[in-house]
Amino acid sequence: MHAITPIDASANKSEKYELLIKQAEAIVNSESDLIANMANLTALLKDSFNWFWIGFYRVNTGSNQLVLGPFQGPLACTRINHGKGVCGEVWATGTTQIVDDVNAHPNHIACSALSQSEIVVPVRNEADEIIAVLDIDSDELARFDEVDGKYLQQLVELLK
Ligand code: SME
Repeated sequence: MHAITPIDASANKSEKYELLIKQAEAIVNSESDLIANMANLTALLKDSFNWFWIGFYRVNTGSNQLVLGPFQGPLACTRINHGKGVCGEVWATGTTQIVDDVNAHPNHIACSALSQSEIVVPVRNEADEIIAVLDIDSDELARFDEVDGKYLQQLVELLK
């Protein structure tokens, strides 16, 4: 077990991410199981930022779908087809997407009417194949920016 340093409520976003990534490194370095690590990363993100929904969708090559993985938040869609929704687009393109207003995004899959903005980051393995996406939804519009993108990409690199 690790002693987790409480995150100072007054810390700015970059400071929160810096500390979170240190904590995530400690967790991931002492556990090799991908699902366990994904589960703890969602818990760390929930504790730090309290976003509405945080979770991984894992690539299932057999069905050519993303399948719901570890998450924090309300009940979610379990399967997303390749190219469908923001998650499916990120899987198809390999590029992080930030959506300021999900209601204005034609390809968005609404798992919850409360979700207003989102960021989705591809997760790659050592061979640089996309094995999952990290999907984070907020109940506020335009909640995510390039700073989130930068740090969340660093965070998912730890899963390699
Ligand atoms: N926002 C996603 C769907 C998954 S849920 O919101 C948890 C999308 O459009 O890809």
